[in-house]
Amino acid sequence: MRVTIFGTGYVGLVTGTCLAEVGHDVVCVDIDEAKVEGLNRGVIPIYEPGLSPMVKANHAAGRLEFTTNAAQAIEHGDVVFIAVGTPPDEDGSADLKYVLAVARTIGQHMQRTTIVVNKSTVPVGTADKVRAAIAHELAERRTNLVFDVVSNPEFLKEGDAVNDCMRPDRIVVGTDSPQALEKLKRLYAPFNRSHERIVAMDVRSAELTKYAANAMLATKISFMNEMACIAEQVGADIEHVRQGIGSDPRIGWHFIYPGAGYGGSCFPKDVQALAWTAQQYGCNPRLLDAVEAVNAAQKQHLFELMTRHYGDVRGKTVAVWGLAFKPNTDDMRAASSRTLLQQLWDAGARVQAFDPEATQEARRIFGNREDLHLCATAGEALQGADALVVVTEWKQFRSPDFARLANVVKDKVVFDGRNLYDPAEVEAAGLSYYGIGRGRSLRKPE
Ligand code: UDX
Repeated sequence: MRVTIFGTGYVGLVTGTCLAEVGHDVVCVDIDEAKVEGLNRGVIPIYEPGLSPMVKANHAAGRLEFTTNAAQAIEHGDVVFIAVGTPPDEDGSADLKYVLAVARTIGQHMQRTTIVVNKSTVPVGTADKVRAAIAHELAERRTNLVFDVVSNPEFLKEGDAVNDCMRPDRIVVGTDSPQALEKLKRLYAPFNRSHERIVAMDVRSAELTKYAANAMLATKISFMNEMACIAEQVGADIEHVRQGIGSDPRIGWHFIYPGAGYGGSCFPKDVQALAWTAQQYGCNPRLLDAVEAVNAAQKQHLFELMTRHYGDVRGKTVAVWGLAFKPNTDDMRAASSRTLLQQLWDAGARVQAFDPEATQEARRIFGNREDLHLCATAGEALQGADALVVVTEWKQFRSPDFARLANVVKDKVVFDGRNLYDPAEVEAAGLSYYGIGRGRSLRKPE
């Protein structure tokens, strides 16, 4: 099938590449000339495991092309995806200017019956706006071409996006057009093996499904972070509690890891945008507001633990392991590390940070500053440091040599923002240990 994708960001690039991988003929459009030129030379603008070789192979096979020529790209596709960004507006609502600009472009250039598929995360009602924008342009051209607007949200996780795209657990298709549904069923047939993964519904339900999924996951995390706060105070260990509740299949093991707060391009933005939509429609999003508030507080918790330990961190050199908002990505959008670093700097501490992938991104965000040293290895970050803080759970941070840490880290203290370590093991090496929600029960009896 001939597919056009607007937007070569995370979602557009991964989706386009996976559709090409299963044999579709894909053209990706972007307004960024340098990016398009780079992609045609095999330069992948994001770090995503497995993506780069797949882009190159499909490009070489002639099934995946990148262009800035929107008119030609629209001509190409039977199905035209919109996968451009929806950054948050100042009030927390999703800004639709890029989505609607693409809709207008489609209306200006389409020459035959087209199925327009919205993959960007957009508020309920956006498909109607996309439809109106296309219809307006067609009316200007005095043509009455037929088109459908489908909502087909993505559920990709950064760091595992290729896998999520190639082996989706569900494919949500929101449309009131039987023809459009049939077409998308054909498009997705290669991903739909062994059992039916397509969940067909009306457009608005599909739009809300995406937000409901992310808000539910964010709620689980904030719930656990609140439990961790309670555990810390009452002298319980949240890790035991997690195992105790996760074994109940109604609760499940996923997304119940307490930590330094959730970040990334989706949860913070989507929870806020959904709360905003709720308000627009006269609903009071009490729970969503609380999820967001708990997360904002949680991002400050590592610093609170440090202040509890030190009183004042002024003049301290702090080794920070992990800057990305989660492992296997270089993405630092809304990362907890950013809150921590800012708090440390404001309090007069120096930071020596190491991240396996996000160094360049950190340099771009923070620039050169005296109180930040970006290190090439985890070991280098420890040299001359007073304390170690782990913010992202990269695999390589999981089993350090605690005896060596005790020798190198001057104040012999570890702040474990992702509960990676066994407190007893850390303490046995002569280090003080602080985790998330690991209360007084862990301390030796007085
Ligand atoms: C998320 C959704 O998982 C995905 O389905 C959606 O399409 C986009 O948003 P992503 O933002 O890539 O994906 O990351 P995810 O793995 O979900 O993690 C989000 C944040 O939650 C990270 O900061 C992570 O550290 C945090 N998290 C996750 C926890 O703190 N505890 C958990 O138990 C799980």
